[in-house]
Amino acid sequence: MNVEISTPRTELVQRLSATPRGARLARRLTGGALATWGFPHDGDLSRTAQLLVAELAANAVTHGRVPGRDFELRLALLPGRNTLRIEVSDTRSDRPLRFLDGGLLDEHGRGLVVVQVLSALWGVTTRDVGKTVWAELPLSARRRPCPRRPAPEG
Ligand SMILES: Nc1ncnc2c1ncn2[C@@H]1O[C@H](COP(=O)(O)OP(=O)(O)O)[C@@H](O)[C@H]1O
Ligand SMILES: [Mg+2]
Repeated sequence: MNVEISTPRTELVQRLSATPRGARLARRLTGGALATWGFPHDGDLSRTAQLLVAELAANAVTHGRVPGRDFELRLALLPGRNTLRIEVSDTRSDRPLRFLDGGLLDEHGRGLVVVQVLSALWGVTTRDVGKTVWAELPLSARRRPCPRRPAPEG
């Protein structure tokens, strides 16, 4: 497998098979590329980016899949904008994204909600063939609510 990393080394572009394995690989490549760029695997940026890539890649290989066609992951650090840009492109044009209004316990329809909540900006752009679903994260430290331990009694 050839991973293309352009110069300067702040961009990764990789075509992947539109399979669950390809989607898992997209997540792993994201953690690896970010670690190479100085963002540790277990840091906030990397964990959030991996989650976003996992959701977008899962959608690309289920809803955006066209048999025989790959999907593409692109990651780009945009330091001038203090931004990590994530792009997941698939080849299906005939199906729009939609928010499903299932309840909290519904297993389906949470992916785009996660993308909406975790990203600073996200959207969809059409391509000649298919579409790109993109999301952006700020590079600076992100604060996320973390569960606090209950204070000791007494
Ligand atoms: N890449 C995509 N291509 C086509 N349709 C998509 C894509 N991503 C999402 N969708 C549509 O948007 C809906 C909501 O996506 P999501 O919130 O991830 O829920 P889920 O994947 O569990 O159905 C999907 O059910 C699908 O109809
Ligand atoms: Mg989904």
